Amino acid sequence: MSICVEEVSHVYGARTPFEKEALKHVNLTINKGEFIGIIGHTGSGKSTLIQHLNGLLHPTSGKVTVDGVDLAGKTKEVMEKRHSVGMVFQYPEHQLFEETVEKDIAFGPLNQGCDEEEIKKRVKSAMKFVGLDYETFKERSPFRLSGGQQRRVAIAGVVAMHPDFLILDEPSAGLDPIGRREIFSRIQNWFRRGVFSVILVSHNMDDMARLATRLIVMHEGEILLDGDPMDIFLNHREELEFCGVDVPPLTKTLLYLKSRNIPVPERAKTCEEAADGLYRMVGGNIHAD
Ligand SMILES: Nc1ncnc2c1ncn2[C@@H]1O[C@H](COP(=O)(O)OP(=O)(O)O)[C@@H](O)[C@H]1O
Ligand SMILES: [Mg+2]
Repeated sequence: MSICVEEVSHVYGARTPFEKEALKHVNLTINKGEFIGIIGHTGSGKSTLIQHLNGLLHPTSGKVTVDGVDLAGKTKEVMEKRHSVGMVFQYPEHQLFEETVEKDIAFGPLNQGCDEEEIKKRVKSAMKFVGLDYETFKERSPFRLSGGQQRRVAIAGVVAMHPDFLILDEPSAGLDPIGRREIFSRIQNWFRRGVFSVILVSHNMDDMARLATRLIVMHEGEILLDGDPMDIFLNHREELEFCGVDVPPLTKTLLYLKSRNIPVPERAKTCEEAADGLYRMVGGNIHAD
């Protein structure tokens, strides 16, 4: 299972004074089983790129296929492929529109032709996934919720469609740190169980180091770097600086210590990993304690 982006360019406002080529001949293959992180400065084309992956935007030139099916068409098969790529927008309030939380989350499965019983099952499990109590929230209006709760409803609406690929565009906005950690740990858990692949756009480099199996760096409508996150953070710092993205704070700290000749595990992805590595380097045996 894969999404294939071939020579895709996208021009906004063609033949107007505001004409902008937001994507320039992008080539990219995303396979099932990957957790892809996309980073890049504001305006580099991240949101434009991911909206092509489920056919919300169409290329000005080039094509996007899901399992070989061109998303430019309008057949039933194309719609099914589009539904297999679920997208949580940058601004979830743009995504919500029904009068109750339950109806909002049920909309996708209803459109997919699920029966009533299956819809209810999916709504309940999606609400559990995002940490919203079914009985408390089912009758509430999505427009009267907090930003973080709206974000959860938007994620639940997509998860309820059982997508093969889950795309999240800057999902932490509006979520408190604990809520963020909770939702990311569920997403990572489902990813590891093979329920879906993930494509995550985020400015949070710690999340990227911790979660992504592959990192894509965008710059002015092009893919500048594509590879292992730690290799990119450690070996391409000049390019990252050039396109205005940072390395994770933890990596930065470890590299600083290394530059002061202190032996450190610079590839550590979390503080726990770094602490264990440091302890081992000074001769400690973690399991003996
Ligand atoms: N609807 C639109 N109309 C015109 N220009 C747009 C539109 N959406 C994005 N752009 C422009 O396209 C470029 C890429 O934007 P975007 O894909 O939103 O980048 P990112 O998500 O990386 O911040 C930017 O220059 C932005 O101003
Ligand atoms: Mg964006």
